[in-house]
Amino acid sequence: MAVLITGGTGYIGSHTVVELVGAGKEAVILDNFYNSKPEIIGVLKEITGSEIKFCDVDIRDEAALEKVFGENAVDEVIHFAGYKAVAESVAKPLDYYGNNVCGAVALLGVMKKFGCKRFVFSSSATVYGMPEKVPVTETSALSAINPYGRTKLIIEDICRDIYNSDNEWSFSLLRYFNPVGAHESGKLREDPNGLPNNLMPIILRAATGEIPALDVYGNDYPTPDGTCVRDYIHVVDLAKGHVAALNGMKKGVEAYNLGTGKGYSVLEMIETFKRVTGAPLPYRFVPRRAGDAAQCWSDPSKAKRELNWEAKFDIEKMCADAWRAARNKDYTK
Ligand code: WQD
Repeated sequence: MAVLITGGTGYIGSHTVVELVGAGKEAVILDNFYNSKPEIIGVLKEITGSEIKFCDVDIRDEAALEKVFGENAVDEVIHFAGYKAVAESVAKPLDYYGNNVCGAVALLGVMKKFGCKRFVFSSSATVYGMPEKVPVTETSALSAINPYGRTKLIIEDICRDIYNSDNEWSFSLLRYFNPVGAHESGKLREDPNGLPNNLMPIILRAATGEIPALDVYGNDYPTPDGTCVRDYIHVVDLAKGHVAALNGMKKGVEAYNLGTGKGYSVLEMIETFKRVTGAPLPYRFVPRRAGDAAQCWSDPSKAKRELNWEAKFDIEKMCADAWRAARNKDYTK
């Protein structure tokens, strides 16, 4: 029986494929390379030492999805495929609702048709909006503050409604905090097509000289050093969380925070990066970015209790692994 990984050549998807194959799962990747590169398939085969089936399919193409399910004994799905840039979602909401929400509905409809009722969803801490208090638990208030976050919340609600209509389904909604870092081989990394939005890819561009400096969005927040605090989690820890979610998934709908439970400020991340890598990291303070919460970090104890999962890697390792991948000259460009 196989696990279908939609978006399996993306940043978190590709790292999860490595962990799934390492855990003895038969992985089938479905991707359309909107935000990744075909070369990643070869890299995954090299890292895992396994042949990995791959389908070049758009998540909204129901006929193509049916063909994938007809040709592969898929009995569970991890759904990563989706647009994920917050600022872009504000500018192009229809693209986000069309791809993220309609894509998820198409996928879940085909799963239902083939009797595949185990679904791990790539959700996000963004469903907590601007958290009233930290740490954030799975019972914290849910609210979306941008179209990207609203698509995540809508898909979570779709999962809850499906389960209420048919108790044979199993759903695990994984709410990621801030994924950072890369596989220790240096052969996989966060490498979005187009300009990145997240902190670490921009730190790496400033450290390699691709950009003159990192812009730090605001140092006047009510935090110890004035910069925003986030729960950065190593992408390999996050990937292992998906294996734990599959293994621990039961009938019903459960949400889990996948974070470290520790908060670090932007300045702490900058200083750690410089100390660990020895790289120059020019930066300057600029005005706040709209929509940024001052502080957001997780209480990950439910995942520990129910999935026997917890993050192991610290921000030093996140910085070291991200830097190694960024300098890997034979990285697929
Ligand atoms: C982190 C901190 C910025 C860039 C987003 C999404 C969330 C999830 C993770 C998908 C903030 C500061 C950043 C820069 C900066 N993505 N920053 N200069 O906003 O916490 O979360 O990514 O699921 O859904 O909302 O992450 O990396 O963009 O920002 O100062 O050039 O770094 O202000 O404080 P964020 P981020």
